[in-house]
Amino acid sequence: MKALTPRFPKMLHGGDYNPDQWLDYPEILKQDIELLKKADINSVSIGIFAWAKLEPEEGVYDFDWLEKIIDELYGNGIYSVLATPSGAKPLWMSEKYEEIRRVQKNGVRDISGARHNHCYTSPVYREKVKEMNRRLAERFSKHPGVILWHLSNEYNGECYCPLCQAAFRDWLKEKYKTLDTLNHAWWTGFWSHTYTSWEQIAAPQPNGEMSVHGLTLDWKRFVTHQTLDFIKMERDAVKAVDPDIPVTANLMGFYDGLDYFKIAKELDVVSWDNYPLWHTQDNAEVGMLSGLTHDVMRSVKHQNFLLMENSPGATNWHKCCMLKRPGMHLLSAMQAVAHGSNSVQYFQIRKSRGSSEKFHGAVIDHVGNSGPYPFIKTENTRTYRDVQSVGAALRQMNDLGDVYETEVKADVALVYDVENRWALDSAQALHNGNMKYVETLLEHYSTFWEKGVQVDIVDSEQDISGYKLVIAPMLYMYRAGFEQKLRRYVENGGTLVGTYWSGMVDDTDLCFLGGTPGNMMDVFGLWNEETDALPEGMENGILIDGEPYEVKDLCALIHPITAEVLGVYESDFYAGRAALTVNSFGSGKAYYIAARTERDFLRDFYGGQIESLGIDRALNTTLPKGVTAHVRCSEDQRIIFVENYTDREKAVDLGGEYKLYGTSQRVKSLKLAPFGTAVLSVSTKIQ
Ligand code: GLA
Ligand code: ZN
Repeated sequence: MKALTPRFPKMLHGGDYNPDQWLDYPEILKQDIELLKKADINSVSIGIFAWAKLEPEEGVYDFDWLEKIIDELYGNGIYSVLATPSGAKPLWMSEKYEEIRRVQKNGVRDISGARHNHCYTSPVYREKVKEMNRRLAERFSKHPGVILWHLSNEYNGECYCPLCQAAFRDWLKEKYKTLDTLNHAWWTGFWSHTYTSWEQIAAPQPNGEMSVHGLTLDWKRFVTHQTLDFIKMERDAVKAVDPDIPVTANLMGFYDGLDYFKIAKELDVVSWDNYPLWHTQDNAEVGMLSGLTHDVMRSVKHQNFLLMENSPGATNWHKCCMLKRPGMHLLSAMQAVAHGSNSVQYFQIRKSRGSSEKFHGAVIDHVGNSGPYPFIKTENTRTYRDVQSVGAALRQMNDLGDVYETEVKADVALVYDVENRWALDSAQALHNGNMKYVETLLEHYSTFWEKGVQVDIVDSEQDISGYKLVIAPMLYMYRAGFEQKLRRYVENGGTLVGTYWSGMVDDTDLCFLGGTPGNMMDVFGLWNEETDALPEGMENGILIDGEPYEVKDLCALIHPITAEVLGVYESDFYAGRAALTVNSFGSGKAYYIAARTERDFLRDFYGGQIESLGIDRALNTTLPKGVTAHVRCSEDQRIIFVENYTDREKAVDLGGEYKLYGTSQRVKSLKLAPFGTAVLSVSTKIQ
């Protein structure tokens, strides 16, 4: 495995640190270093929102303070993840150059303020950012304490300004060449929306065109393209000075405004910010969604990633900002590592004293170390001690040096295609605004989570040939020739699972003619004639060998052609008709689940697949409810993380003998404390 941060190839423990806000408090900055060391923090992300300090006036740069801080940190064994500051622009700039401020969907230009709201197209902003990045790279890229570029912050959003709209039209010209091609692809004859000049094309906006789905889809593609173009500009500006320091950008899991599979290709390292709603609902559910999202973030680049931000305590922006219960901080940190993260980083190291994040969880609370009572100090806060527990765990991994090299290997691929999500969500049919794509993915994922099976996430552009099982729920849009890949995959012996509302449209959102799932009817051995939407609270069932399983929301009415019927609908006018089928195609099999089922069905169905396909599990045992296990492997070792997401002690029979990580103690069973974690290892060396 290639090191994510070659200058310091270790598990990182750290987070966003804003010393730029504290330059007038030298004693605090000094204390911070001591507190970081005592928590085994070995890296910080700095400069993320420091533009006003780095360039206080146009053309006047001041990097001395930053150098002093990077030096000081490095002298104390703390490495810097150095940010480019484009996430927030200084006021002098946004006041002077109107064009760098975004125009919102309603056509109104922003006034100065806030963050993450610059125009990605503006030549002025691009020039300013490029110059800043070049200067930062010139000053700091040779610094031995700088290990990674943190490009901007959480790239997101859209701009509807005239510059962006013109760039959109250029992008379309490049893609479609002629208006005739575009008009056909977008089916603009509908409601007489035929374009007769490129100038008539505008972004989809609520007081304008929202009914042309091809336009909506292409706009979203363009937003990814244009954001990526900006990211590449930022990346190239620092790489031109020194190509050796890797770049990352902190992504946001299931955020749907950008296609992260495309963005990840242009980054050396994927990192992301995770803020689960711990404790506010069933923790196993929260843990499962968090686990799935980690898997997405690992899979967009198919490589280990960094957890760039998570809160060491409560956030300040959830609807209900609940404290992390004892154990949860270590558990959620180990979860990230278990899914492929080579870091545990926080937002934030020290709380800002004022403004909107002054009550957001932080390693160092306002209490600092300066009050009248000696026992009131950071080291005595619960959060700091929780952070120390993570620091100790990561230090042990770094001392042994083995976890860093390990990777997650999955036999199962779950298809999550962002363009499919866009198309699915903009289509008007069935359950408008409530098609539940991510929820559906989570449902299909749940059995694997419960049984401790590793899952990769793929989109339509990935290679799927190596997986034992490929699951493509609600793949409404077949694009990028994915159906050809699926066909070959099954032909060559793969096992594919498809569902209702799949293969409805092609990659410009035009319906397949001649029957659905488009181009795949022979693979699934069936034709899907129509789909019933059930209102909330109304159910049907699938009968399998006479046993009923509840189904809800969506029921496809299919006609098996060559497929074997494994289950039939229980009621309504389609009672007795096929609801679960399997078709042999080439040397593989394609299953079709025609209705949205509950978990009990998925558990039985995928449980059977795990057994019959010999799919690898972290532990060969039945895990108690709310407990999961994940595994990272190297050539000769498996490191297993056993995670208890319940508030009860849980006994786990490991189904074999394992070493407790970092000790010589061998165990065959475990008692996990509430929200407890255990790390195990087992050698796979051939003796
Ligand atoms: C995001 C941002 C941070 C901070 C945190 C708060 O992830 O990147 O700057 O605002 O949220 O949770
Ligand atoms: Zn713009």
